Amino acid sequence: MNLDMKRDEFQELLSRTSDLVLRIYSNLEERKVYHGKTPAEVRELFKEALPEEPFDFQKLLHKVESDVLPHATFNISPHYYGYIMSGGTYAGIAAEFITAALNQNVGKWHIAAASTELEQLSIRWIAEFIGYPVDTGGVLVSGGSSANLVGIAAGVRARAPFELAEDGLRAGPPLTVYASVERHSCIDKAVRMLGLGHKNLRLIPVRDDFTIDVQELEKQIEKDRSNGFYPVCVIANGGSVNSGAVDSFPQLSAIAKKHHAWFHIDAAYGGPAAGTEIARDMFSGIELGDSVALDPHKWLSVPYEAGCVMVKDADALRNAFAISADYLRLDEGREGRLDFSEYSPQLSRNAKGLKVWMTLKMYGASALRQVIEKNIRNMRYLGELIDASGDFERLTPVPLSVVCFRYRTKDKQYHRNEEYLERLNKKLLEAIEQDGRVFVPGTLVRGKTALRACGINHRNEPRHVEYLLNVLREIGESIHF
Ligand SMILES: Cc1ncc(COP(=O)(O)O)c(C=O)c1O
Repeated sequence: MNLDMKRDEFQELLSRTSDLVLRIYSNLEERKVYHGKTPAEVRELFKEALPEEPFDFQKLLHKVESDVLPHATFNISPHYYGYIMSGGTYAGIAAEFITAALNQNVGKWHIAAASTELEQLSIRWIAEFIGYPVDTGGVLVSGGSSANLVGIAAGVRARAPFELAEDGLRAGPPLTVYASVERHSCIDKAVRMLGLGHKNLRLIPVRDDFTIDVQELEKQIEKDRSNGFYPVCVIANGGSVNSGAVDSFPQLSAIAKKHHAWFHIDAAYGGPAAGTEIARDMFSGIELGDSVALDPHKWLSVPYEAGCVMVKDADALRNAFAISADYLRLDEGREGRLDFSEYSPQLSRNAKGLKVWMTLKMYGASALRQVIEKNIRNMRYLGELIDASGDFERLTPVPLSVVCFRYRTKDKQYHRNEEYLERLNKKLLEAIEQDGRVFVPGTLVRGKTALRACGINHRNEPRHVEYLLNVLREIGESIHF
């Protein structure tokens, strides 16, 4: 049994698939971003036993168009402001198509030569884009969670005062890791997965602008040292998930250095802004990070999945992940071959380099910078509209492209009624999802329920943020309880 089709049938499959893709993009702006269906309703559409017999591909594409597309969440739309998600690009779609066709496994150089070289080049270009040393080590991974895990794993291995990989954590003092209370939850996950113990992640308070309180960090490290803990890693936010806060890299680097700790920067979201005129100063000192996590699938608009971790000392990264096995090493020593499986937990890996390389090459760094600057300006504009509105209240500053705010009605008697505002905004979040014209999920800001809008979609323009606020107002005014 061979699963291939005849050439003309294959051509028909590809051309019908590309027609479908064109239809997705033909009316993006008019589409609802969210379908409003329940899990049971969506599940019902796909309920069937494992098929034993083949199914005609035209009918299959029809099924995709009628049942999958309407129940996708349209994060590619300019009306989408959820989490930190880009809209992808046409270059990315083409690259994913070619990547699937070639089906490379980028675990070892000799099974994916060009893809390995493109991955190395992409990492160098990302480093150059943000002002990090271009001779850095690094690897492309699934996203920010993996990039942070890999960077922290390399750091902990490099700076633990004992042979961690051989002897395990019990061979020395408890290792402590430092980050602000505003760190992304994947830092907690990484600390747990590495077996360091969640209690040994010290969460340092933040100042009014949501950046880490450096004095509190120093105090905590001194306290830990005098109690027999070993500070192994300091983590900075390079654009925090809730408010875009960027910690002071020079200050955190100096503290880490003083204690011989690893300095890791989580710039999964904000990193690319370091390459722009409008935000560069906030990111000064990014080159001081021993490792930096940055997601091409966020602000470089590369399609999912594409995360990147850069580790200045490539050997530190390799030491954490290279492992010997007879079947992997027989081509060892052949000149200049780099096997990416030695730089992250994965052995088999898809070819992420092609889509990062094609994105950077097709659009050029200048266009990508312009998108980031436009996004920052648009979301600051949204902040201004909120401030001028009277019926909305902004809860966070807008250093990058995320703004947290809440609805409070035009009626001033409610503006200080916290209990009412909590109920109102919880109801509003449900109603926004049900309405589906825009997508804005929630968060807590200093304990208050907030709408959290993040704009990193290159299709987002000032008219879209004006529309956003009008839609939210209309939904807000329709809530009665
Ligand atoms: C600052 C930060 N770090 C890490 C992550 C996790 O990235 P991913 O969802 O790609 O795993 C995010 C996601 O939004 C983030 O904003």
